[in-house]
Amino acid sequence: MRVGVVQFNPLFGGVGRNIAKAISLVRPLKADVWVLPELFATGYQFVDREEVKALSEEVDGPTVDTMIRKARELGCWFCGGFAERSGERVYNSAFLAGPHGLAGLYRKTHLFGREKELFSPGDRGFEVHTAAGVRVGMMICFDWVFPESARTLMLGGAQVILHPSNLVLPHCPEAMKTRALENRLFTVTANRIGTESRVPGESYTYIGQSVVWTPRGELVLGLGVDEERAAVVEIDETLALDKRVTRFNDLAEDRRPEWYRMG
Ligand code: ACM
Repeated sequence: MRVGVVQFNPLFGGVGRNIAKAISLVRPLKADVWVLPELFATGYQFVDREEVKALSEEVDGPTVDTMIRKARELGCWFCGGFAERSGERVYNSAFLAGPHGLAGLYRKTHLFGREKELFSPGDRGFEVHTAAGVRVGMMICFDWVFPESARTLMLGGAQVILHPSNLVLPHCPEAMKTRALENRLFTVTANRIGTESRVPGESYTYIGQSVVWTPRGELVLGLGVDEERAAVVEIDETLALDKRVTRFNDLAEDRRPEWYRMG
């Protein structure tokens, strides 16, 4: 399958402009599954809950609806982040939009920094979905720090982890190599670029460096810190079905959960 990342600088609050920008970047290329950044249409740095609420949308709202229409038009799947309103709550969510409609929804489990004041924590866990005939799972940005996120997706059968991000701290692009290796699956991290300084004393510079790692720990796609572009790489997703490391070792079978502390 061909997986693609879209790395760009969303304009805060410019939902229509940001969707159009993302689509203009992917249009010249061909991928089966595209990953867009976390909160790619709204921007990230909300000043307060009222602002998040005002820019949030239900899962059948215009942003996801537009991405489903684009998926149908282009014959692909899109995974991207959005502020999801559900009743009185707003989640930092990711959608998986395919040619036939919504193929998956994920609500960020591990909220980062002031997100804890702005969003409700995810309540759906880590589910595995199908895109272009491949088992895929979603996690969002800071979820990478918790190895349980990727491990849960691996145990659920995910071959490819789709990872919309708005990274501001270092290390994640390199650390995803370990998530790929320890679970023997592909990881696709799409990060944004640019700076947001909308909150006094809190300036965020996003670190770009969108990456794709293979189950063997090979870097097969890596963008620069401030490159604005989409990029595609062809992967052999069947490699993720083989969890063997040596003749004697299989990462799925060798686990010893009876010795793992879960809480
Ligand atoms: C993050 O989770 N957006 C750093």
